[in-house]
Amino acid sequence: MAVNTKLIDFLAASPSSFHAVETIARRLEAEGYISLPESASWSLIPGGKYYVTRNQSSVIAFAVPASEPVGFMMCASHSDSPTFKIKEHPEAECAGAYVRLNTEKYGGMLCSTWLDRPLSVAGRIVVKQDGKLVSRTVCVDRDLLIIPNVAIHMMRGANDNMSYNANVDMYPLMGSTAVKGSFKKIVADAAGVNADDIVASDLYLYNRSAAAVWGAENEFISAPRLDDLQCAFASMEAFLAAQATDAIPVLAVMDNEEVGSQTKQGAASTFLYDVLTRICAALGMEYQRAVSRSFLVSADNAHAVHPNHPELADVYHRPKMNGGIVIKHNANQRYTTDAISQAIFASICEAAEVPVQYFANRSDMAGGSTLGNIANTQVSLNTVDIGLAQLAMHSSYETAGVKDTEYMITALTKFYSSTLHVLGDGEYEIR
Ligand code: CO
Repeated sequence: MAVNTKLIDFLAASPSSFHAVETIARRLEAEGYISLPESASWSLIPGGKYYVTRNQSSVIAFAVPASEPVGFMMCASHSDSPTFKIKEHPEAECAGAYVRLNTEKYGGMLCSTWLDRPLSVAGRIVVKQDGKLVSRTVCVDRDLLIIPNVAIHMMRGANDNMSYNANVDMYPLMGSTAVKGSFKKIVADAAGVNADDIVASDLYLYNRSAAAVWGAENEFISAPRLDDLQCAFASMEAFLAAQATDAIPVLAVMDNEEVGSQTKQGAASTFLYDVLTRICAALGMEYQRAVSRSFLVSADNAHAVHPNHPELADVYHRPKMNGGIVIKHNANQRYTTDAISQAIFASICEAAEVPVQYFANRSDMAGGSTLGNIANTQVSLNTVDIGLAQLAMHSSYETAGVKDTEYMITALTKFYSSTLHVLGDGEYEIR
């Protein structure tokens, strides 16, 4: 399927949250969207297409309708994935034989999946350039590092109850002691700058493994960062494919979901609120009225029932890969879905002829959370939590269904091509 090829290209171009946002921004520019710096004064015109970035790692795009706008039809996903961040002093010598990189955990990864595979480094650097400080993305595009396992002969319990200490077991090997002091130069060479001009950096490990489409009928796709770039990619494609309506379509891809979203550019920040209030001010809309006539889709991947551990899923809520959009419920509102938002979004999926399935945790398991309820603390409106079913969430190499990306694009294209008419509190019409 062509859409999987495009998804694989998107994933390969997005080894860090900075690269994901850069990839999305480039695509938006190619489709005629204009960059609006937050530091500029905004004047928006009917029919105008715009995007805003914050910290180079979150992006919000929107299009102004030709007619008087009703409200916002929004979809939010996240740009980051669990990984390891390189510390300020990046090199750690050991055993009189090696140079490793000094890292710390970013988010909650499955540690074992980072072992014994080629890794490299991507992120951003800040460089001195003509008397200015300029931040730019950098990706070391070659196999640079491996975090080696310990041989079974030296750790007989390795198959029973292994635990991973981030300060001991997870440091990646870069070379022999002969390469001491070379890391900064490797990064500088990849960025095409002088090492001495690098003032600071936010650099992360990434898995070099290429995506694979596999299975008896090629029904699965495995790749790094499917959570949540599969949803980021699908929502971008849908946003760009949708027909204009009386509502303002909004595409949001936010950083730092994996560490709780409480950063200046995360879903708990004022970024979405700031953009929406500035749109309202520029277009003469009343913010509270516009938001009350709006809808948010929080799109973040979901757990497929596991082939070896089906008992970990609720018996009656077991999403399957290639089974369509997963609508997620949680009584404690870690997922925002309620009867209203489910009814609205499921109706849109039905109109788009996209199958839906439902997820809830086992009643004795806490499960995960995502950015929908967090975003609601800043911009409060009807919100549904959805995702695509996947295995091994937070592995460095995750697995999903090949049909589901297309389902997500189709459903969200229908969503972005619709206008929600709020007839009262509890009465809605989708046109
Ligand atoms: Co996620």
